[in-house]
Amino acid sequence: PEYRLYQHPVCERNVPFVLIILSGWGEGREDEFNAIHKSDCVAIKTLRNIHPYRWRTLKAHGEWVGLPKNTDMGNGEVGNNAMGCGKIVAQRATLVDKAIADGSMSKGQGWLYAKEAWVYGGTLHLLGLLSDGGVHSRYDQLRYIFKTAADQQCKKIRFHVLLDGRDVNEGTSIHFVEQLEKDLDELRKWGCDARIASGGGRMFVTMDHWNTDWRIVRRGWYAHVLGDSPNKYESAVEAITDLKKKDPHCNDQYLPPFVIIKKSDGKPWGTIEEGDVVINFNFRADRMIQISQAFVDENFDKFDRIYWPNVRYVALMQYDLKAKIPIHYLVKPPQFHKLAGKYLSANGVRTFAITESQKMGHITFNWNGNNSGKTHEVNDTWHEVQSENVRYEYEPEMRAATIGNVANDALLSGKYDFVRVMFANGDFVGHTNDFEATKRACVAVDEGIKLICSAVELCGGIYMIVGDHGNCEDMVQRDVEGNPQLDGCGNPFRKPCHSLHEVPCGIGGPGLHPNARFRDNLRNAGLANVTATYMNLLGFEAPHCYEPSLLTFDYNPWAFTGV
Ligand code: 3PG
Ligand code: CO
Repeated sequence: PEYRLYQHPVCERNVPFVLIILSGWGEGREDEFNAIHKSDCVAIKTLRNIHPYRWRTLKAHGEWVGLPKNTDMGNGEVGNNAMGCGKIVAQRATLVDKAIADGSMSKGQGWLYAKEAWVYGGTLHLLGLLSDGGVHSRYDQLRYIFKTAADQQCKKIRFHVLLDGRDVNEGTSIHFVEQLEKDLDELRKWGCDARIASGGGRMFVTMDHWNTDWRIVRRGWYAHVLGDSPNKYESAVEAITDLKKKDPHCNDQYLPPFVIIKKSDGKPWGTIEEGDVVINFNFRADRMIQISQAFVDENFDKFDRIYWPNVRYVALMQYDLKAKIPIHYLVKPPQFHKLAGKYLSANGVRTFAITESQKMGHITFNWNGNNSGKTHEVNDTWHEVQSENVRYEYEPEMRAATIGNVANDALLSGKYDFVRVMFANGDFVGHTNDFEATKRACVAVDEGIKLICSAVELCGGIYMIVGDHGNCEDMVQRDVEGNPQLDGCGNPFRKPCHSLHEVPCGIGGPGLHPNARFRDNLRNAGLANVTATYMNLLGFEAPHCYEPSLLTFDYNPWAFTGV
């Protein structure tokens, strides 16, 4: 009864429904930096032109997805959390800010557990993404952690830094390292022996996600824990500069692992040893679950750890609530109640979720409020298409064709009421800074949409298309006025990160009620309004606690009667 849903007064049940999520696909200016605009997305253009009241845009950033500021771009974790739970919930970054502001972080159990280790002489290791992207981590939060630790008797800190260039511009990793080095100089003056010990590019070292490529985590383990890497340098700035010089294709994201060694004896500054404490300063879950498992799992078998030191392992936030990964953390993560997935499966809706490895957890784990596992044994089916472990500027089509085909089959099979599909391309290729590749990525998505919509036509179903946040629609750095930034030769400085843009949202298909259209009095709607909307389209009234549905079925003299 807790999860009981009521029949919608207009929408019928058992009409096949597909939700197509376009990752990293926003609504930007139609200029030469917009990869969607510049590519031939025939299918999506056609769909948008069928009916003016069945397309709109939605907010996908800042307060609309629970982020601290409206200058915070949206991202896959918060966007899919919102669509899966129908509400705006204060997100991880926001909660950490709060715990810093009110002092609760450094009074909590996780902090005391960590502190005990350094008070007894253990080294504090800080591991995480070094940038102020605000998607996985933020420099100001890291700074609070190390300053507070130093204030509270911590005498030795080692940093294991993952370089970004994905949530911030390419080439900025040097700047963040220099900023850190300056802060560490200061710490050393105050008697805290603080040093960078190891690092690497986030896409090549440590930060894998959704079990896509464990070799990434292994590289990190070797560098951070064992101090073992073919790339040894006396400083992180030297490491970045030299590794980039050696390989022109190497950027911040893909920098190989490196270890910082002492000039005096060539030994690493900071391997991770028994009795030490590791604080993982990323708040976002996906890309830190695997390395956390390597630190805490007794029966870990993903690679040979060689040496598994008995350390205290603490995350800034717990990453997986259900699996309790890890057990110790500094700030309690957001809780998502009354998940749509629970409601739907409890009411007999048979769901089929499909995407490729790189996004699998976005439409399952994040969708379900950052809980691992299915919402129902029978009614919740997942299909993962194995991603190719390559740099996606070289294969921008990714697995879109397979995803389109499998989703098409799922719709026609009659076995599912709700097919949820995500295309990774706009986001993943948008993150590469390669505009030509991103245009190909957009076309691949468009072809996937075409395949799925042909199945919708055949089975008399309904589709809903929505972006989870912007990315590929704006691939240039802009000044405060929004003007593109160009170099001396007129070439754009590319922007790899997400945008603040709204995302498109459209509905259609032969199964849709002829009066169905978007309300005109929800101008400021965001991704959390998507949930009640798809619940309606599946034939249910949405729970009262959800943000309102975008739909209206009022009599409409211009009702859509075409194909
Ligand atoms: C990543 O982890 O790839 C990026 O930092 C964020 O991308 P996502 O929010 O689209 O997953
Ligand atoms: Co992204």
